Amino acid sequence: MVNTSVNLCGITLQNPVIPASGTCGFGAELAEWYDLNLLGAISIKGTTLEPRFGNPTPRIAECPNGMLNSVGLQNPGVETVAAEEIPRLKKHYHQPIIANISGFSIDEYTACCERICNSVDLVELNISCPNVHNGGMAFGTSATEAARVVSAVRKVCSRPLVVKLTPNVTDITVIARACEEAGADGLTLINTLLGMRIDVMRRKPVLANKMGGFSGAAVFPIALRMIYQVHLACRIPIIGCGGVSSARDVIEMMMAGATAVQVGSENLRNPLACKEIIENLPLEMEKLHISDLKEFIGIIQ
Ligand code: FUM
Repeated sequence: MVNTSVNLCGITLQNPVIPASGTCGFGAELAEWYDLNLLGAISIKGTTLEPRFGNPTPRIAECPNGMLNSVGLQNPGVETVAAEEIPRLKKHYHQPIIANISGFSIDEYTACCERICNSVDLVELNISCPNVHNGGMAFGTSATEAARVVSAVRKVCSRPLVVKLTPNVTDITVIARACEEAGADGLTLINTLLGMRIDVMRRKPVLANKMGGFSGAAVFPIALRMIYQVHLACRIPIIGCGGVSSARDVIEMMMAGATAVQVGSENLRNPLACKEIIENLPLEMEKLHISDLKEFIGIIQ
């Protein structure tokens, strides 16, 4: 019998596997495929203060071992998410819920957090969306701006606050430390890498927004490297994210320093991905002679 449970910012997860925000809607999309109660937690669709239609289409481009997205934070707005989507999810789901929030100003971030935080277990502050102007990644590429927004949201947030970081920076440890010093309780890394594809027949970018966020198996080594670096630089827990597609990937990310692990693009390729990873995790642990997963967090120095 192996122990897969972990403690994330004071919250016990029965296992470390979490569908990443934007890859499971508000839960209903995955609930069609399996009982969500086997998950460690769920990070629901990125939410903003006001409803957003998102970017023009096409918003998705396929790539070898990955994909580009330029969704542009499409969502029905925090009022609908808090009043309708989360209660709907809670009818059949009883594990921790993570709200992923975005904004275009510090006031928007704080107002969004205030409206949603009491309905969830943990708040993931998204300062890393590459697909919107004047928001998202604009906060996450400056240590000063990151600290300002984290500090403001921390004051109004009644739940543990985890900050989702962008890899599109020179040194992610500088941003990570700024967030930790400003009061973050944890960090999620990494969001997508800014990328582009061109339709050579049409002589045009594939994405209407020209550029988008690259994710999928190809980014796994980059995510792993950044988790390792940030684990050495910070004391707060890390949720690893980026290219995870197997139970072995989960263990590898945890050895690099992740306390829990999000599965993103793989959910879009295989909606059963999280279920299969959770089922395989004890088998992989036995093969690797691991009886308690949490004892292996950050063992690589
Ligand atoms: O475009 C999007 O909605 C992506 C969001 C994100 O990567 O955080």
